[in-house]
Amino acid sequence: MKLIITGMMAAGLMFAGAAMAEDMPAVGKAKCSACHAIEKKVIGPAWRDVAKKYKGDPEGVNLIVMHVINGGEFGWKTGTKMPARGLGANDAEIQKLAAFIIGLESQP
Ligand code: HEC
Repeated sequence: MKLIITGMMAAGLMFAGAAMAEDMPAVGKAKCSACHAIEKKVIGPAWRDVAKKYKGDPEGVNLIVMHVINGGEFGWKTGTKMPARGLGANDAEIQKLAAFIIGLESQP
């Protein structure tokens, strides 16, 4: 019995750990993950690299929101443009995603 409980606790901890090691929010998976991942460049830059770019910039979140809403090129030299609103995210979703992206910088 003790073993089972320990096992369950370990599984629970692992689950909490996985959740903390940033999972892309569902809306990001639906509307951005065709071109973005958190840790690696896909078609667009890795979101962790975007977080680094805006590290310490008090306007960072707003800039990300504006760039995602308007789309365009932001110096990543991907040869492709970020499409306005990705695959159709609305303002509220973009706000949430921008906060998520900026937040990546504070995590290891
Ligand atoms: C069709 C592909 C595609 C989709 C879908 C897409 N992106 Fe992008 N994104 C790009 C590309 C390409 C760039 C880099 C453009 C450049 O070369 O500067 C980019 C750049 C960015 C940047 C960096 C902006 C900056 O200021 O440096 C952010 C943030 C971003 N995307 C967020 C998102 C979010 C959030 C979504 C979903 C709502 C999304 N993207 C959907 C292709 C995409």
